[in-house]
Amino acid sequence: MAEDELEMSVDSELAALQLPGTRTNLYRELLSSFPAGVTVVTAFDAEQRPRGLTLIAFCGVSLEPPLVLVCVDRASNTLPAIQHSGGFTVNVIGSHSPQVARLMATKAGDKFERIPWRRPELPEGGPILHADSAAHIVCKTWQAREAGDHWIFIGEVMEGAAAENQQPLVFHRRAFVDLGLSG
Ligand SMILES: Cc1cc2nc3c(=O)[nH]c(=O)nc-3n(C[C@H](O)[C@H](O)[C@H](O)COP(=O)(O)O)c2cc1C
Repeated sequence: MAEDELEMSVDSELAALQLPGTRTNLYRELLSSFPAGVTVVTAFDAEQRPRGLTLIAFCGVSLEPPLVLVCVDRASNTLPAIQHSGGFTVNVIGSHSPQVARLMATKAGDKFERIPWRRPELPEGGPILHADSAAHIVCKTWQAREAGDHWIFIGEVMEGAAAENQQPLVFHRRAFVDLGLSG
């Protein structure tokens, strides 16, 4: 396909996407095209209770110092815990645990009574979901700033571990997907 034809077809697809809905719908549609690993970001609140949410807005930022970032909705009940504790843990959910990703995407008050977890060594870190994660990354908050209706937390990686034989869960086009790489 010639480059101008490709541009035309992309333009007409974008125009079609905009027809039925608002800019928010278009934004959701566009971002759902990008497959993302599924994490559960956790922190302890002021009463040392575990908090956490399912989160795909995670990425690496810097190697030296080692930094990652997460974006947390202003309306999240986990947000005050991350702000108070000065850190968080990113649990990369394994392909065997979509039910944990579903549970952590709810507002249930007893999320952590239903799954195993343990404390990290770093006092600022959040609960480690050792039975349901392909990896965990424990961070101390390095910088926090507001961006629209979310907060961006940049965390310095202080401890962590990855299970080589555990495949990650992926979210693509509004569904949890198993990459099917095991075996
Ligand atoms: C696949 C998936 C990805 C999500 N990604 C994010 C995200 O990146 N940031 C965010 O703030 N919420 C995200 N959410 C929504 C939160 O998980 C959800 O609002 C949750 O109920 C918040 O829980 P909390 O209020 O206990 O913190 C996502 C939900 C799902 C199902």
